[in-house]
Amino acid sequence: RVVYRNLPGKQPPILEGVPYIGGLLKFAGGPWKLMEEGYSTKGEVFTVPVAHKRVTFLIGPDVAPHFFKATDEELSQTEVYNFNVPTFGKGVVYDVDQKVRTEQFRFFTEALKKERLRKYVPQFATEAEAYFSRWGDSGVVDLKQEFSTLVALTAARTLLGREIREQLFDQVADLLHDLDDGMRPISVFFPYLPTAFHKKRDEARVKMGQIFAKVIQARRASPVKEEDVLQQFCDARYQNVEGGRQLTEEEITGLLIAVLFAGQHTSSITSAWTGIFMINSKDKDLAAAVQEQSEIMARHGPGLDMDVLGEMDVLHRNITEALRLHPPLLLVMRYAKQGFSVTTAKGQTYNVPAGDIVAASPNFAHVLPSVFDRPLAYEPDRFAAPREEDKKKPFSFIGFGGGRHACIGQNFAYLQIKAIWSVLLRSFDFELLDPVPDADYDSMVIGPKACRVKYTRRKLQPARA
Ligand code: HEM
Repeated sequence: RVVYRNLPGKQPPILEGVPYIGGLLKFAGGPWKLMEEGYSTKGEVFTVPVAHKRVTFLIGPDVAPHFFKATDEELSQTEVYNFNVPTFGKGVVYDVDQKVRTEQFRFFTEALKKERLRKYVPQFATEAEAYFSRWGDSGVVDLKQEFSTLVALTAARTLLGREIREQLFDQVADLLHDLDDGMRPISVFFPYLPTAFHKKRDEARVKMGQIFAKVIQARRASPVKEEDVLQQFCDARYQNVEGGRQLTEEEITGLLIAVLFAGQHTSSITSAWTGIFMINSKDKDLAAAVQEQSEIMARHGPGLDMDVLGEMDVLHRNITEALRLHPPLLLVMRYAKQGFSVTTAKGQTYNVPAGDIVAASPNFAHVLPSVFDRPLAYEPDRFAAPREEDKKKPFSFIGFGGGRHACIGQNFAYLQIKAIWSVLLRSFDFELLDPVPDADYDSMVIGPKACRVKYTRRKLQPARA
């Protein structure tokens, strides 16, 4: 139950003893400990002073609806996500008013809808097959690194366009690396701090604009229509902005960078965790996923398309369970433009004042024992009937966020990760050489620390059931 108003009543309890600078550093370096302390001593709703700001956490499905269902006028993204502006560029996403942003998000939605995804799937499969055909008969790899490269190639092909994938990949990959490196936890608070990594980021952003301007001009002059997101953006028109004009080259570049930042590391990291957990559960979960591939090949032959990937329920649940245990986005945040009151499961009502940053944490919410049985155990079947633990309360599983700003690329991500893993499961055996690694909380998108995996190419493909 949420009521929006500015009442002076009882505010959420404050997690005391977080010093000004200490709080800032602790927060920037990963707020897990703060959340642990706050949740265990104060409950589902608590406020942490971070430098000159206040962050109010809403933890768990009883209080999460406030976060996910609020309108942009109530809980806004701009104030908390505008640290992305130097990376994405001017005139897009968090640098524009709500009316323009809504239209730009519509471009994302259209570029990622079902009929479009159907065209991207063969490209996922082709990239994955080509990539793994270059692996030897056996070898040792770090899955996170492998998938980072592969997903960058696929993203280049399906999002950035054929020209980038075929002719300009190395150049663009270097620039994206500088953009990535310029986005560090400290950049969230000080995006314009004059550091060497911010300077390189800004130079890279200018060069990206120059490269894409040429590609976009050539696209627009060509009668050929490509099957990628770039083409969608080249052809798109605003409905209610400046007489329904086309997007500028700078806007297209910015939207492409935004979609890449939303989808690339998140997908490659989730692919890595999925593999690590499946391989760690070799006799059960990996065996079940391999068996599923055999059965699907028996029904459909070796080809991969959207319908075939849609039948991979076992693999799907493995991906979801990996994402439950390790969602790559530790925090999702909003800025309270209006005060609101929130009531906990125990019936305690708190008034959150306007001006607070409000945060929900997929990582923390996903290991609450009140929501998931044996929350630290890897059990993909918790998402299958009869358990279906995610369905008991809305917003229990929030790996893709939820509600008004739920991930637009969720289906794209599942299809891509499934394509990668079905190619691998059909051709290789695996063994973990290290224990399941810890998450690396030092980066913005949280992935596994290094973990060696041994692969062996099968002499025979799995028997066709
Ligand atoms: C939003 C997670 C893949 C595009 C989100 C949000 C989460 C998320 C948690 C909500 C952010 C918030 O509420 O503030 C993930 C994960 C992925 C993934 C875990 C992979 C496993 C992708 C891909 C794309 C994408 C592949 C595009 C190709 C977007 C966009 C939004 C978004 C555009 C913004 C939606 C909005 O604010 O209305 N994602 N994402 N994501 N995601 Fe994803």
